Amino acid sequence: MAVAMASALLMLALATASAAVSGAGAPWRSRRPRPEADLVTGLPGQPAVGFSHYAGYVDVTSGGGGGKALFYWFFEAEREPDKKPLLLWLNGGPGCSSVAYGAAQELGPFLVRSYGANLTRNAYAWNKAANLLFLEAPVGVGFSYANRTSDLRRLGDRVTAQDSYAFLLGWLDRFPEFKGRDLYIAGESYAGHYVPQLAELIYEGNKGASRDRAISIKGFMIGNAVLNDATDQLGMVEYAWSHAIISDELYSAVRRDCDSFKEEADGGRPGKGCSPALRAFLGAYDDIDIYSIYTPTCLLSNLSSASAAAGSARPRPARLVAAPRLLSKHVRYVRRLCECGCCWHATDLPAVARRRSGIG
Ligand SMILES: *[C@@H]1O[C@H](CO)[C@@H](O)[C@H](O)[C@H]1NC(C)=O
Ligand SMILES: *[C@@H]1O[C@H](CO)[C@@H](O)[C@H](O)[C@H]1NC(C)=O
Ligand SMILES: *[C@@H]1O[C@H](CO)[C@@H](O)[C@H](O)[C@H]1NC(C)=O
Repeated sequence: MAVAMASALLMLALATASAAVSGAGAPWRSRRPRPEADLVTGLPGQPAVGFSHYAGYVDVTSGGGGGKALFYWFFEAEREPDKKPLLLWLNGGPGCSSVAYGAAQELGPFLVRSYGANLTRNAYAWNKAANLLFLEAPVGVGFSYANRTSDLRRLGDRVTAQDSYAFLLGWLDRFPEFKGRDLYIAGESYAGHYVPQLAELIYEGNKGASRDRAISIKGFMIGNAVLNDATDQLGMVEYAWSHAIISDELYSAVRRDCDSFKEEADGGRPGKGCSPALRAFLGAYDDIDIYSIYTPTCLLSNLSSASAAAGSARPRPARLVAAPRLLSKHVRYVRRLCECGCCWHATDLPAVARRRSGIG
């Protein structure tokens, strides 16, 4: 699921990049006012680059509330940033940091690698194609904060979207050159909820907005997105089947015995065979990285350790993060589902489900 969509997105982005870059002449120089206080002049181990980056807080306190501020890290496009769109990136979770994950491990220009002394340049950084804005949302995630503890208990999709919208308006005031610039919103995993909900809020907000407050949203992209349990679970099983990870027989058994993951409220009636079929499905991933099936997987917990040398190496635990209801009953699934320092366990699921529905 993750791989195919992520690489499709990347290819799209890079195709745009090479078209634009080929015409580039002299390095672009900033002529517009920028918030000097937010300029990042260097990071420990940062390679020298020809683009600027900025980081800081945008106050999103709403009327009468306690202080709330969202943290951003913005990388201008590598070349000709004034001709490139703005892309806002959101990680999911709920609770994943866009700095720790999207920026530092996936699509940002500086990657943090295990045991690396320095930051590593990312050859596939998305700021080759766009001006790249990472936002940590909602408050409580990454460096984003609320001064009033009760604000941390009143989170959910709606608050996240409202605060992210307030952030965007505030950020555009700080970077006025991007007002009117084409905006795309992208994200992965639980951002399958954040991204379209924010896009909708912007679309609605634009209707009554003055020219200065209108946001020129052009589209959004979601990869490996959380939509709803029925769709997500079926998608995982179809992906495994269409990539020869599970057999035709197991695929048919899962569909039949789990009633195609139809919600019980919609008349779904999983049978007795559902659990064993799902165990077999998850078992097929014991030695395959479910997030990246073609990436070689290190099956030893510590290659250089004495136990590995003695042949008692144990397989790495499963790393699956999203936890749809039927799958989450299974030990393999629940073992330790860490993506970003935010681990979901079976016991967290009711809370997650509430947040998903936007109530929590
Ligand atoms: C949060 O409180 C600190 C300490 O009083 C203050 O400096 C900061 O501006 C507050 N943040 C917001 C967003 O109001
Ligand atoms: C890290 O960067 C510093 C400064 O550019 C350089 O001297 C050093 O060799 C680099 N270390 C590694 C492991 O690349
Ligand atoms: C891996 O094994 C080596 C040698 O036994 C040990 O020094 C190191 O701390 C181990 N690393 C981890 C992450 O367990």
